Amino acid sequence: MDIQHPDLHPLFADHLATLKAHADKALLRAGYDHLVIAAGQVRYHFLDDRDYPFSVNPHFKHWLPVTRAPGSWIVYTPGKKPKLIYLQPHDYWHVVPEAPAGYWVEHFDIAIIREAKDALAHLPRDPARCAIVGEANAALDGFAPNNPAGVIDYLHWHRSYKTAYELAMLRVASKIGARAHRAAEAAFRAGASEFDIHVAYMAAARQSDHDLPYGNIIALNEHSAILHYTDRQHAPPAHRHAFLIDAGASFHGYASDITRTYAAAHAGEFQALVDAVDAAQQGFCAKVRDGQSYPELHVHAHHVLAGILKDHGFIRMSAEGAVESGLSSVFFPHGLGHPIGLQVHDVAGFQASDSGGTIPRPPGHPYLRMTRVLEPGMVVTIEPGLYFIDLLLAELKDKPAAKDVDWAKVDAFRQYGGIRIEDDVVCTDGAPENLTRDAFAAL
Ligand code: GLY
Ligand code: MN
Ligand code: MN
Repeated sequence: MDIQHPDLHPLFADHLATLKAHADKALLRAGYDHLVIAAGQVRYHFLDDRDYPFSVNPHFKHWLPVTRAPGSWIVYTPGKKPKLIYLQPHDYWHVVPEAPAGYWVEHFDIAIIREAKDALAHLPRDPARCAIVGEANAALDGFAPNNPAGVIDYLHWHRSYKTAYELAMLRVASKIGARAHRAAEAAFRAGASEFDIHVAYMAAARQSDHDLPYGNIIALNEHSAILHYTDRQHAPPAHRHAFLIDAGASFHGYASDITRTYAAAHAGEFQALVDAVDAAQQGFCAKVRDGQSYPELHVHAHHVLAGILKDHGFIRMSAEGAVESGLSSVFFPHGLGHPIGLQVHDVAGFQASDSGGTIPRPPGHPYLRMTRVLEPGMVVTIEPGLYFIDLLLAELKDKPAAKDVDWAKVDAFRQYGGIRIEDDVVCTDGAPENLTRDAFAAL
């Protein structure tokens, strides 16, 4: 079943007009005549002819929904139609990038080349006049990426504010992810192993490992206490208590990032904790509004989660005390979320202005990935969690706060691993748009 999306022709035309306006300003500020973007090059394993999965330069896929075009380039000169230099090698060993087609093609002058070095004939003559955005390995003879900070900072800043076209892409990525999450939950309920749940997810998403925006986290029982658990056991566990899945989907280069946690039917005490985190998470999502400081929302989340730990009998300290003493960070040791878009962990989460700078994290929160104030057009994840992590609990045992912990209760919950609930949420002029909940609701 294909997922429906709106007519992308007008949305893409507006998106491109926005990108051009930003490029015009960035080039003017930094004193360049052309913006040149390298898609990137295929990389090979050491001493081998085996290639790594190709990952396109995110700046390239910002301009057009082409993600499998190594050796291609975009050239934009203010006032002119952008040019795509498109590498379609004469090659019968590999799939050749397909002929340009679709809603974006009419907006580009397209030059087809057969060898990477032939791009030089179509690139601007004087590289010194070009802001060349790309990885070092994209360099051609005399034409190498220079990634000027003044240009990159300006472009990254504006990538924070998604166009209507980008929001349409993100909605579809969320719908594909939600559909696959349903299949994964069904596989869990049917007794599948981590590996087989992963396969069920990919089959429902119609995306394989290399298409997905990040490696699926498919964790049964105590494995979900490993935040980025990517081992996938082939055999089902002897007992199943809980399932945490953090898995997204891609659409035209845009990502979704979704986490759900499920309790087994017999695990009522864990289900109650999942329900509490889920309710808290929806409260945080409701605060994704214009003017909301994201780091303040993160610290607020610590207070709410500490209150849940107290209500459920894990700690005896007040929520305030738990946050101040660092106790809440033992159970919630990561950030509340991050910007998302062309990259799962999207750019400019710490950026102070369109000319760069860094907004520091609040002291004591080293893993927070977003320190900005929310504004309309930004898309962020909201992903609180509570975990029972052996390493952090062992460290806690030597601290004064250890006396305020009900260790028997904590030990009883180690078998569940942990909980994370993650949605992708759009900040608008009014109420937030929850891409993830909307996608699940539409299934
Ligand atoms: N899936 C990685 C993250 O949630 O940030
Ligand atoms: Mn995330
Ligand atoms: Mn995630």
